[in-house]
Amino acid sequence: MWIEDLKDHIGEVVTVKGWVFNRRSSGKVRFIILRDGTGFSQVVLVKGIVSEEGFNLSHNIPYEAQIEVNGRIKEESRAIGGVEIEALDLKIVFLPHEEYPISTKSHGIDFLLSHRHLWLRSRRQFAIMRIRNEIIKAARDFFYERKFINIDSPILTPTSCEGTTTLFEVNYFDEKAYLSQSGQLYLEPAAAALGKVFCFGPAFRAEKSKTRRHLTEFWAIEPEVAFMDYKGAEELASSLIVYMIERVLENRQQELEILERDVDALKRIKLPFPVISYEEAIGLLNKKGNGTKYGEDFGGDEETLLSESFDRPLIIEKYPKSIKPFYMKEDTENPELVLNFDIIAPEGYGEIVGGSQREDDYDKLLENIKEHGIEMDTVDWYLDIRKYGSFVHSGFGLGLERTVAWISGIHHVREAIPYPRTLGRLYP
Ligand code: 4AD
Ligand code: MG
Repeated sequence: MWIEDLKDHIGEVVTVKGWVFNRRSSGKVRFIILRDGTGFSQVVLVKGIVSEEGFNLSHNIPYEAQIEVNGRIKEESRAIGGVEIEALDLKIVFLPHEEYPISTKSHGIDFLLSHRHLWLRSRRQFAIMRIRNEIIKAARDFFYERKFINIDSPILTPTSCEGTTTLFEVNYFDEKAYLSQSGQLYLEPAAAALGKVFCFGPAFRAEKSKTRRHLTEFWAIEPEVAFMDYKGAEELASSLIVYMIERVLENRQQELEILERDVDALKRIKLPFPVISYEEAIGLLNKKGNGTKYGEDFGGDEETLLSESFDRPLIIEKYPKSIKPFYMKEDTENPELVLNFDIIAPEGYGEIVGGSQREDDYDKLLENIKEHGIEMDTVDWYLDIRKYGSFVHSGFGLGLERTVAWISGIHHVREAIPYPRTLGRLYP
């Protein structure tokens, strides 16, 4: 039986397989914390109740030995999971070859990252991965409930979506190819084919910045919707975020507890989210003593400062066209601006969503492509959506790891992905 199912079988005698996570002993009673991947459970070995052989085997049993325990499930409100196993018998299935390198004492972050494949077994990482899973499932459910179609964008691409400075180049036979920075450009034509679409896949950026928010490989959830303007996309993104938080609060209480997450901060995340313009954001920053000038983009410090004034995610819209990608729709009321938005998470987690209405005018788009110095033969296919029945549409990308880090309340995105890739780390 799996540990997560024990609570539904109180009183029964069951067999549980797992690894020795921790142990202690006090005279005639020994305790083993067993983990099986679905949870952690205390096994109590009382001399006289457990078989003599089992009791003897449990003496100094090494960490991460794989064992099999036969025992009775007992209600125990103080124990993790609300139950414990009173052992009747214990068998060792596999003994470790060497002492397990990760102990309960604290290790440096480099050591832990180098042992990421083992570090995943810790309670903290167990909790984070389960929250990540919940958020992914919530996102998929959210879009399927709204009748979106999942379209997988390619990873090997000839084009750049988010600027050429962060491209990973690979050899594609006799051509140059790049790892995708975003599925967006491929999702836009798919919206013309299928109306409401989303992709969920890895995105690659050769980020030279070593911050708590940057990975070189991260996962993005990106919807694209026909006949939706940027305001509609702001609402869609806000609803998605609220939906993900509700799901985590509902289904991942134990994990939030393990991470000691302040759940009240999450419960405050309700619709609608505050919206300010880029210009207002500059004003707010200047008032707080930050010297960002109109026309400059925000970095992590600015995002943190801005988010401090709000207890919900903050939507900042209409940035200067000069600092944004070629595909964003020009604001007809002020051609210096684009109809875009970013969503900044509270508590200093930074930008979790970037989105916009797309430039639907063929000539404007052509102009933008030339201005950005993009090679025409890499995007001529993309221009076809403007040539053949253009349409108003919008979309956004939500960065999964930043969202997981925020909702979990962990400091750095490197713990929000199973195997983080960062500047200077490709291993394991
Ligand atoms: O704001 P970005 O660059 O937007 C796009 O890629 C658009 N093409 C999305 C779209 O409209 N379909 O990236 C989207 C989100 C960011 O808001 C951020 O949360 C996350 O992706 N992100 C990163 N996360 C971790 N590490 C990085 N290096 C990231 N770069 C972006
Ligand atoms: Mg962005």
